[in-house]
Amino acid sequence: MVEGTLNHIMQIIYLLSAIAFIVGLKLQSSPDSARRGNIWAAFGMGLATLATIVIFGYSANATILQYALVFVAIALGGLIGGYMAKTVKMTAMPEMVSFFNGMGGATAVAIAVAEYGGWAARENSSIGEFLSLWLGLVIGGVAFTGSLIAYGKLQGKIKDKVLPAQQVINMLVLIAMAVLGYLLVATGNVLFLYAIVLLSLLYGVLFVMPIGGADMPVVISLLNSFTGIAATFAGLLFNNQAMIIGGILVGSAGTILTVLMCQAMNRSLWNVLVGAFGGGSGEGSTESGEHVHKEANITDVAIMCNYADRVIIVPGYGMAVAQAQHAVHEVEKLLEANGVEVKYAIHPVAGRMPGHMNVLLAEADVPYPKLLEMDDANPLFKTTDVVLVIGANDVVNPAALDDPGSPIYGMPILNVVEAKQVIILKRSMKPGYAGIENPLFFKPNSKMLFGDAKDSLGNLGAEIKGM
Ligand code: TAP
Repeated sequence: MVEGTLNHIMQIIYLLSAIAFIVGLKLQSSPDSARRGNIWAAFGMGLATLATIVIFGYSANATILQYALVFVAIALGGLIGGYMAKTVKMTAMPEMVSFFNGMGGATAVAIAVAEYGGWAARENSSIGEFLSLWLGLVIGGVAFTGSLIAYGKLQGKIKDKVLPAQQVINMLVLIAMAVLGYLLVATGNVLFLYAIVLLSLLYGVLFVMPIGGADMPVVISLLNSFTGIAATFAGLLFNNQAMIIGGILVGSAGTILTVLMCQAMNRSLWNVLVGAFGGGSGEGSTESGEHVHKEANITDVAIMCNYADRVIIVPGYGMAVAQAQHAVHEVEKLLEANGVEVKYAIHPVAGRMPGHMNVLLAEADVPYPKLLEMDDANPLFKTTDVVLVIGANDVVNPAALDDPGSPIYGMPILNVVEAKQVIILKRSMKPGYAGIENPLFFKPNSKMLFGDAKDSLGNLGAEIKGM
């Protein structure tokens, strides 16, 4: 009787937690409400965790020692996570996401290993349950080591490495895990379980090792969805609604983000996973005889901007490298004070992670309404006097629109070439991530302003101030 009532209370609390997750996710879709979204999601997770400990602990007659172990683990994890979140630099966010993701994968593996004993001992255990267990184990293991390799790559500590016959080896490891799963069910020998764990960890390494470092955001998002899926399978094992719904939300959000990133680059996921995109080396000048660029000087640029009606700033990866977000905000404020309308045009894959530019500009306190998405910015270029392209390259490359032979042909771009004057701030004529020439640099209305973006913007600000 008491058991039944407690079970009902638990289901209601899980339902409330799931509602909090969904509200949190919805609020996270806009930078204005994202903080509140985090609080909602954390509240939902806290509620589900507490209910599980109290109610499940009571029904299972948990001992004081068991409670103590759980709370010590929560306190330790909370302290480490809280410290990391407080001290992480904005630019190291993808690394942290990747690390936390890896921990989620490891948890799914630990749950599956712990649950195997129960599954094997139960009289009425089904093959469907074993399949959930196997999938949680394999996907969780891949997410764990894959995320750690991604973390190492983002830190620049691990280099890309493609093995000979990489695809064949990956396929063989997958088949071996399936065969071991069969043997585990047939014999009940727990050694097969540990072999699956080892192979899933190996597969995570093999899966991420060959992928180009700059493609890591796509891979991290994909691994994130894997962790969600692994958590869903773990939730199915326990018949735990909060875990199932939470896992599905993480899994689908990660999948949607992966698809959106691939679409914004006009590349298939397969191309990201198995093939490098262009040269990507960034080595060497790409200027050829018939292509000659023009150079601008700071005074010219200051005059052009100061007497413009509208200036649009297009930030890219180079702005992040130069950490020029504060300097760009200074220039924006000076121009606005002189009556110039200033906006920022943000390409969905500018930089190296989703929302990279938004995060940097928010850090510099650029007001959010000044940020235009690609579809809103493109119609404005025709009536814009000056576009300042700051460390962006591929995302403004017109070859994507008019050169069917280009590797980025079809990628939606910010069509800055339509503006009256385009000033490109970068250090050299070297290509961007895609490793290809950018015809924008040679257009009659384009001028290069060479130098580190932070230095150039500092000088530009000083020049405008002196006018
Ligand atoms: P890129 O095409 O990579 O170009 C960045 C430019 O910044 C380079 O040409 C570089 O030229 C310049 N730069 C570097 N350091 C600089 C500094 N200190 N000061 C001034 N300029 C500097 O960047 P993008 O236009 O932002 O495009 C992003 C690329 O990344 C796209 O190809 C996209 O597909 C890819 N990508 C993005 C994501 C996400 S989610 N954002 C994920 C995967 C891949 P110099 O060396 O001459 O200075």
